[in-house]
Amino acid sequence: MNDFAKLNLSDAEFAGIRNLVFENTGISLADSKQELVKRRFTPRIKELGLSSFASYINYVENNLEKEISNFCNAITTNLTSFFRENHHYEFLQNEALPALERRNSAGGRKLRVWSAGCSTGQEAYCLASILRSSIKGFERWDAKILATDLDEKCLAVAKQGVYAPEGLDKMPADFISKYFEEESQSNGGARKPKVRASASLKQIISFNKLNLIDPKWPMKGKFDVIFCRNVFIYFDKDTQAELLERFAKYQVRGSYLCLGHSESISNPHAVGYRLIGKTTYVRE
Ligand SMILES: C[S@@+](CC[C@H](N)C(=O)[O-])C[C@H]1O[C@@H](n2cnc3c(N)ncnc32)[C@H](O)[C@@H]1O
Repeated sequence: MNDFAKLNLSDAEFAGIRNLVFENTGISLADSKQELVKRRFTPRIKELGLSSFASYINYVENNLEKEISNFCNAITTNLTSFFRENHHYEFLQNEALPALERRNSAGGRKLRVWSAGCSTGQEAYCLASILRSSIKGFERWDAKILATDLDEKCLAVAKQGVYAPEGLDKMPADFISKYFEEESQSNGGARKPKVRASASLKQIISFNKLNLIDPKWPMKGKFDVIFCRNVFIYFDKDTQAELLERFAKYQVRGSYLCLGHSESISNPHAVGYRLIGKTTYVRE
């Protein structure tokens, strides 16, 4: 969209949008995000046939249940990729999984992993590939990945599991051949075919909508590994601290938490974690 098409945004309108975003997503928008707000919301406002941010704010306030999903989808940043921040996957494969296999093999061979803020699913499919390829006797394990996000459009892509082949550049070749299939060509061979995650990966992943700032999370069990990467960065310090406390309640001693590259915990011990690698923590 070019600049001329964007709607005007007054300071008061920006403040109105910022409050709604914070209340509904926990995302904390800095003063510098006015252009982002214009760019992200203008298409939706026009789609609704409205002509200003003020009228949109009014619309959202009076139709929250109906509009909430479009509203949240407009402001979330969904950038992700396969094997992004690969050091976490290496850690999982080389250190976390061997330790968890030893620990959990007595207790029913159960393993639970959570990709919190999974976006379009690449992180969950990487986790699933590693679990399947690394755990000895995988078929005898009850291993599952919960992948959650607030953005329903992202979740729809994640559930489909169909990606452009360029996206798999960082994926090891043996993972591609074992866990991804080429889609059949519908364009006469003009473009490289897309790739689809295999049923063997999809089988162990459950994609669900979850707003991390919802006061109650529906999950009952604990997680051996939580990946919550490049999500905290959008929250303010208080929200981050609250989430860490909640994650800690969902993990027993010796379980692992991986955050994104710029999301370190300032005093991990205070919330029950110990730093053991680059943005990698173990529950104390
Ligand atoms: C930048 S992506 C990170 C994706 C992936 N974890 C990675 O590191 O590549 C951030 C994701 O967090 C999600 N998100 C933002 N606020 C959220 C909230 N309150 N609850 C759940 N997910 C949220 C966004 O929808 C987005 O898909």
